[in-house]
Amino acid sequence: MSNITFTMIKPDAVKNNNIGPILAKINDAGFTIRAMKYTELSEAQAMAFYEVHKERPFYGELVEFMTSGPIVAAILEKENAVEDFRKLIGATNPTEAAEGTIRKIFAESIQNNAVHGSDSDENAIIEADFHFSKTERF
Ligand code: CMP
Repeated sequence: MSNITFTMIKPDAVKNNNIGPILAKINDAGFTIRAMKYTELSEAQAMAFYEVHKERPFYGELVEFMTSGPIVAAILEKENAVEDFRKLIGATNPTEAAEGTIRKIFAESIQNNAVHGSDSDENAIIEADFHFSKTERF
């Protein structure tokens, strides 16, 4: 079990001025921020990050959405980080997300779902390495 997960606060949540409230929920849930950047994904970065979904019908629109404005990328640390963060954010589709979860509160739709969270320890490491060098982690 690894103790890190990777998250992005997505363009919908940034546009809606929800960076602060989402970070507060992350802190309140006991996660420590190990790395963070406010940035915009290039088309190539978004395509590569979501390559696993490239055969899905929503891939093109997902890439378009993820490059539509700035995001906040972060590495979060906590015991059981991946699983606990997925509980905190709720189901991919906000209509199915539990009350009080970040997606239930802040997401606009299944695509514009406010935050990303790694789905496994292995992917958390891959995704963290995709966005952050060693010198950007504290
Ligand atoms: P995320 O957890 O970042 O992982 C893949 C993303 O694809 C997901 O959040 C959503 O933003 C998007 N997504 C997943 N399923 C669908 C869908 N059925 N329609 C549109 N977008 C989707």
